[in-house]
Amino acid sequence: MNVGGVPLRPLAAAPGGDAVVVIDQRALPHRLQFATLASPQDVYTAIRDMWVRGAPLIGAVAAYGLALQARADAGDAALAAAVAHLQSARPTAVNLAWALQRLLRHLLALPASQRGDAAWQEAGAIAEEDVQVNAAIGRHGLPLLQAVAARRPGPVNVLTHCNAGWLATVDWGTATSPLYQAHAAGLPLHVWVDETRPRNQGASLTAWELAQAGVPHTLVADNAGGHLMQRGQVDIVIVGCDRVTARGDVCNKIGTYLKALAAQDNGVPFYVAMPTSTLDLALADGLRQIPIEERPAREVTHISGRDAAGTVVEVQLTAAGTPAANPAFDVTPARLVSGLITEHGVVAAEEGALRRLMEGQR
Ligand code: MRU
Repeated sequence: MNVGGVPLRPLAAAPGGDAVVVIDQRALPHRLQFATLASPQDVYTAIRDMWVRGAPLIGAVAAYGLALQARADAGDAALAAAVAHLQSARPTAVNLAWALQRLLRHLLALPASQRGDAAWQEAGAIAEEDVQVNAAIGRHGLPLLQAVAARRPGPVNVLTHCNAGWLATVDWGTATSPLYQAHAAGLPLHVWVDETRPRNQGASLTAWELAQAGVPHTLVADNAGGHLMQRGQVDIVIVGCDRVTARGDVCNKIGTYLKALAAQDNGVPFYVAMPTSTLDLALADGLRQIPIEERPAREVTHISGRDAAGTVVEVQLTAAGTPAANPAFDVTPARLVSGLITEHGVVAAEEGALRRLMEGQR
């Protein structure tokens, strides 16, 4: 997607094949800042500390981390250790394991002498595929928005949570891809952007992205969604996901479940944009089986923003010593999900449909 009219992606392989350059998302929306990751440890830190974030993006960046390892030491033991380390950076989004295991399998089938170049190429393939997958999600999601537009005049009001935009992927985003495609097709749109406490990915990333693309949007506090739905101001909810189980339970950013409950109570369709790299057929019960990342309490007790002088500062919200918990994701049971928008089409959040979808791709 474009920033200031110039195409930009959140990651790019350095031309020398010795590093990956990423947008350091901690600085947005106040500054567009880049970071060069030149070792597997750099990549681990960037994922853990959320310089890069979003399920598909951390998978692609991790693949480059393993490729950097393969350049340094491509022996079986070194690769396996790097996979274990990178995979431990964040536990919830399955794309991290998906990308690393795919690349590891590819490399172990080759002689060690070929693994450095092959790893770099395969990491590039993982990244490029993500772009195509997300473009396809946009094509399959677009008719859902067109159907709303066909029912009544005025903009289609979409609510989204967190950032499942191009910053969370290699391009297009997942939940935002239908929005960008609808906007390009001239469909009138308006997006309610949940701020997404505690890290505010909606406020600082999604709102910024939509502004860059000229998509009309309004930022709301997380607690406003139910009220907007009760007043008929939301036509459809579209969110991303970090892991979807075989029976269609959806794990996504904390607060997603509450939006799904409100959507159900108000008859608002609740769709999840899901690249199949986020589907974990090995798990069934999302509530009991998906590991939920617990992040530092400081993300809840403190907040950062720009002061009047333009300097980004962190301030404390709470009394000193206030205990805080910070579960980063929640699980929306399949029964609350209207459908999963995948690169192969819209599918029911239901085991038979998901297994058939994946068998059809073999
Ligand atoms: O903690 P984050 O910012 O990595 O969480 C991101 C989300 O929850 C996204 O909705 C999800 O990863 C899908 S991104 C296309």
